[in-house]
Amino acid sequence: MASDEDVSPPTHSYLIGQRDDIIRASRVVTSVNGRDVLVLHHQGELYALDSHCYHAGGPLQNGDIEEVAGRVCIVCPWHKYKISVCDGEGVYQAVDPSVKPLKPRWCFKGVKQRVHKVTEVKGHVYITLNTSAEHLESDHYQTPKYRETLHRN
Ligand code: FES
Repeated sequence: MASDEDVSPPTHSYLIGQRDDIIRASRVVTSVNGRDVLVLHHQGELYALDSHCYHAGGPLQNGDIEEVAGRVCIVCPWHKYKISVCDGEGVYQAVDPSVKPLKPRWCFKGVKQRVHKVTEVKGHVYITLNTSAEHLESDHYQTPKYRETLHRN
């Protein structure tokens, strides 16, 4: 998260709320310029990422937080995929069957979930959407058609 040194909000950012309110709530799902974004607080840090899991659209706001391989991850409640909240990388455990005894190790799939920049200015929390042209798998669940389906259920 960017620091509070600047006095004006970043350009192209959206006010999400007051830091204290977000910390109290722990998690906030909000619509930011047509995108569903989860803002969460964990151990003093605020993170923002697409709220629908890249795998099948699961509600990440209901996931547990775990520290895995030195990264803070959210665990999707639907199929337990782990996603690094810092950079959106998919994290999984693998076993090399040729190495005995079998020993699971953590691996990374690359960035799957779009994460967004969080900035705090005088207690106000802003999100700047990550609008990189690179297609990420979580983008699929941000289409108007899919979001409409989710919000109806
Ligand atoms: Fe998230 Fe399947 S929808 S793990």
